Amino acid sequence: MIYVCRREHFNAAHKLFNPKWSDKKNKEVFGVCSNKNWHGHNYEMIVTVKGEVDKDSGMLINLKILSKIIKEEILDKVDHKNLNIDVPFLKGIITSTENVTIKFWEVIEKRLKSTKGANCSLHKIRVYETPRNFIDYYGEK
Ligand code: NI
Repeated sequence: MIYVCRREHFNAAHKLFNPKWSDKKNKEVFGVCSNKNWHGHNYEMIVTVKGEVDKDSGMLINLKILSKIIKEEILDKVDHKNLNIDVPFLKGIITSTENVTIKFWEVIEKRLKSTKGANCSLHKIRVYETPRNFIDYYGEK
C-alpha cells in the first residue's frame, strides 16, 4: 500500500452562522467568525489517495489526473468564492472547516470512483483553515 498526496490552495470567504440561533447566540458560539459581513481564509488542502503501485507505470495514479479532479471538483467552485452562498454543494450547511472537509470528501470520492485510470481510493483529506488550525477526515462516519 502506498499513499500519494496532492497539496492545493484556495482563498474563500465565509461566516459561521446557525440560522436557528439568535444573533446573540451566534456571536457567543462563533465569536468573530460569525461576523455578518464575512471574513476570509487562505485555505490549504492536502488530498491523499492510496493503493498499489502499477507495475508498468511505477505509479499509483498519474498526479495530473488527481490534480485535474481537485481543480474541477473543488478549486474551480470554491476559489475566490463565498462558501456560504456561491458553492452549490455547500448550500445549507454551516461552513465550518469540519463540514467543508466532509463535503470535499464526498465530491472527490464520487469523481475518483468514476475516473478511468484512477486505480486508487481516497484515504484522507486535510484542510487548513489557518496554518495552525486544520481538519483531517478519513471518510469515517
Ligand atoms: Ni472563518
